[in-house]
Amino acid sequence: LSSCRAFVFDAYGTLFDVGSAVARLRDSVGDEADRLSALWRQKQLEYTWLRGLMGEFADFWTVTGDALDYAMDQIGKNDPILRAKLMETYLSLDTFPEVVSTLQTLKDQGHKLAILSNGARHMLISAAKSSGILSLFDQILCVDELKTYKPHPDVYQLAVDKLEVEPGEISFQSSNGWDIAGAGHFGFRTAWINRALNPAERLSHVPDVVLGGLDELLPLVSQNTKD
Ligand code: LAC
Repeated sequence: LSSCRAFVFDAYGTLFDVGSAVARLRDSVGDEADRLSALWRQKQLEYTWLRGLMGEFADFWTVTGDALDYAMDQIGKNDPILRAKLMETYLSLDTFPEVVSTLQTLKDQGHKLAILSNGARHMLISAAKSSGILSLFDQILCVDELKTYKPHPDVYQLAVDKLEVEPGEISFQSSNGWDIAGAGHFGFRTAWINRALNPAERLSHVPDVVLGGLDELLPLVSQNTKD
């Protein structure tokens, strides 16, 4: 990764802790909190992939709401006020503890930083603002205009076009194994942030590095003196 000029980050699960949504409202959700959180996330991802394949794009806010409705239905919870509160938390999710300082260090070293996410722009801006990281990014890249979702190659191409660097000069960080597979297949260098110690995905691409947190990137990266 020492030759990389731009560092591109997946948002949800990588910078932002999606588990913090249900965790904040654990008491209101009750015993099924962990199940709800896992189901919500799984359905959210499935709906992006399915809608991408069907050519039936709906933005990530809609998909996130649909996924929450499914998950609440599954655990037998019908509570519109709780639903609204859970959706609201998505706009101010917690970042993982090492995120802010790692981004700041990379920025200080002169690297280009961007988010490349399936999230809707307003969601990403809101969450990034609330955690104080918005100003560290050169670009917030999202799928709103493309109307499809990662791992479609067009989404990764967006980073190449907007950052004006070659795919091989981009280090892409994601905690999502499927996203790492998509990015590696496209031609990015990849760092799989495997905080949860998940097994490797069986999707042909092997990540360049597997890290336990974003801060583990720093020893692998050199100062950018090119521009
Ligand atoms: C992202 C999600 C889906 O693209 O993790 O930010």
